[in-house]
Amino acid sequence: MKNVSIDTITQAVLSYYSDSTDPRFMFVLKALIEHLHAFAKETELTHEEWIRGLQFLYDAGQISTPERNEFVLASDVTGLSSLIDMLGSQHEGTSSSVLGPFHIAGAPEQAYGADLKRDNAGATVLVTGRVSDLEGRALNGAVIEMWQTADNGLYSNQDEAQPDYNLRLTTSVGEDGRYAFTTVRPAPYKVPDDGPVGEMLKATGRNAWRPSHLHFIVTAPGKRALVTEVFPSDDPYIDRDAVFGVREDLIMEYQQKTDLSDLPPGLEVGEDVTLPWYRVDFDFVLVDD
Ligand code: BEZ
Ligand code: FE
Repeated sequence: MKNVSIDTITQAVLSYYSDSTDPRFMFVLKALIEHLHAFAKETELTHEEWIRGLQFLYDAGQISTPERNEFVLASDVTGLSSLIDMLGSQHEGTSSSVLGPFHIAGAPEQAYGADLKRDNAGATVLVTGRVSDLEGRALNGAVIEMWQTADNGLYSNQDEAQPDYNLRLTTSVGEDGRYAFTTVRPAPYKVPDDGPVGEMLKATGRNAWRPSHLHFIVTAPGKRALVTEVFPSDDPYIDRDAVFGVREDLIMEYQQKTDLSDLPPGLEVGEDVTLPWYRVDFDFVLVDD
């Protein structure tokens, strides 16, 4: 094509692609090109701004490692990760939420009532609940993975002072679908803000904080795996999560308790609990795969 102009360049680029290769890939790529061109036109993007954007991508690549993916973080703080997550999980079950970079597979399997608190600082929290299907039937054999920060806002893989797999758990539910463990109350923390994404947050006056949360992955035979997190209603950052992970049905309460006799039986922690202690009840509802 000769004489490409501002008005014809989008069509010129699109005409180079054939729909016969992989229709879905072509559809997505063409829409991306159209939106990028429309974005440049709408914003009247300058050469300097375009170079700045490319520098951001270069810097994101430079700081990324197998353990730290700055592109995922950019997707998180622009809400793209959460949007894609919500688009892909429009069902009646428990909402999903971002996985985040701090999950590690292989947390030791522990029985109902396990104690994760051990000598971690912080208030004792008893987390209990049930895993069911949409009809309320217990999902015998469901497996729960949980990970969280310690009282200092750090995950075990960010903090050399914590033992491996500290405050991480894998547990299977029984016939009644119930799970229980004791732990400590996690703390709010900032997403990594020492790279180009942090620079962007600072330049726009944005908050890097996430409200405190417990991460969960819940799986059961024949059910769709649920990756989610639950948040306390009274967290100072509950309305301004840096990565937009909060959903109404993922909000819980830390119910304060002063009486040890309120502890259910069968907990490893027994009566060795700090007072006051807190109770969180959270049920998971899984949908068919
Ligand atoms: C997290 O919750 O672990 C997390 C999620 C997104 C970005 C950074 C951290
Ligand atoms: Fe987290």
